[in-house]
Amino acid sequence: MKFTIASACAEDKLVKVTWNDGHTSRFYNKWLRYYCCCKTCKPGYKATYVADLTTLPDVLTVAKVVVDKKGEAINVEINGEIIPGHVIQYDSQWLRQHCYCDACLDDLIDKRDVISKNGASVGDLTVREVEYQNLLDDPDRTIFRICEEVILRGCCLVKNVPCEDNKSLEVVRMLAPITETCFGVRFDVDFSNSQHGNNNPTLLPFHMDCTAYEQPAGFFFLHCLRFDETIRGGESKLTDLFDAAETLRKESPEHFKTLSEVPASWDTYSHHLSHPAHLEHQKCHIELDYFDKIVAVNWSPGLVGPLRIKEKDVERFYKARTKFSEIINREENQIVFRLQAGDVIVVNNRRVAHARTKIDNKDGGERHLQGSYANIDDVRSKYMQLAAKLGIDVVQPKIGNRCSF
Ligand SMILES: [Fe+2]
Ligand SMILES: [Zn+2]
Ligand SMILES: [Zn+2]
Repeated sequence: MKFTIASACAEDKLVKVTWNDGHTSRFYNKWLRYYCCCKTCKPGYKATYVADLTTLPDVLTVAKVVVDKKGEAINVEINGEIIPGHVIQYDSQWLRQHCYCDACLDDLIDKRDVISKNGASVGDLTVREVEYQNLLDDPDRTIFRICEEVILRGCCLVKNVPCEDNKSLEVVRMLAPITETCFGVRFDVDFSNSQHGNNNPTLLPFHMDCTAYEQPAGFFFLHCLRFDETIRGGESKLTDLFDAAETLRKESPEHFKTLSEVPASWDTYSHHLSHPAHLEHQKCHIELDYFDKIVAVNWSPGLVGPLRIKEKDVERFYKARTKFSEIINREENQIVFRLQAGDVIVVNNRRVAHARTKIDNKDGGERHLQGSYANIDDVRSKYMQLAAKLGIDVVQPKIGNRCSF
């Protein structure tokens, strides 16, 4: 819809705008001055600062408000302006898109929350497949499709990737720069490699990777180079942590509150790695934003470190974590599959936990995986760029990077 301004008037510390659809916005004068879209204030590049807006008076009053004849633009002049002759200018469409009334904020948060709309509880945690050959034939559309699947549903499987060393790195780099961690640019999982430890015979419980970092890995890419039929077990499992957290909020509000208030500890002490690691971090299992929305979940039983919390919180913390663990491990919300040689599974590590069933190679054989990571914001950025390039209308989605936007 094309929005135009029907009328605008100054009111004490703000400008009240009435729109062609009857909606009303209230923009504080300080807000209007800060995000001014004139050529002086928005010269087309970021990171510079044309005027120190913190020196504006605390209470900013309006000298003049002018709406153009068609209602497509608005100019505002303020008292106490710090750039001589400056007029605040806005295009109506932009201004309406940035209305911050309660209704517009709720609507925006809801539109962007693709996680709630596609979580396990709505029965849509499925692994959709994309053919590697399509990446070569039609890279833009195929990369967009992979990003879309992982953003909407948390995971995607790229089939028939050549089983060559480092081949998956090419796939990662098509989506985003590789994030190097203490495991290197790429890590290997096989029976000879204890570095990543993932082929030990016990089951690997549901977890996210790299929770001992301030920012856990964003998307992970795991390429199956070899998985012999002689090997029993070793199935992959995925489950949606955001969905589990919403279930906890519904079923046990007190436990939910505890896990969003009392932090867990995480560590990784691996001095034998290619980049020897001594990592510790403290954060909550469930992180809420200003709007009380779940914006991050942290879960990795194998990386928990000794708690550093006040004694009064210890008991309630463990009770809450036990309940959350029970929900995360509910079978009805899991996808279980066996990787095939040539598969690259792409997972949003900040949203979806992965696990592996017990593995048994008593009859010989090899299971060899190569993994790497990409930054969560870089992948979403690629998705938005490609949407624009391909003319696909998308709303920037919530992705699990600690904010609703
Ligand atoms: Fe893992
Ligand atoms: Zn300006
Ligand atoms: Zn509004």
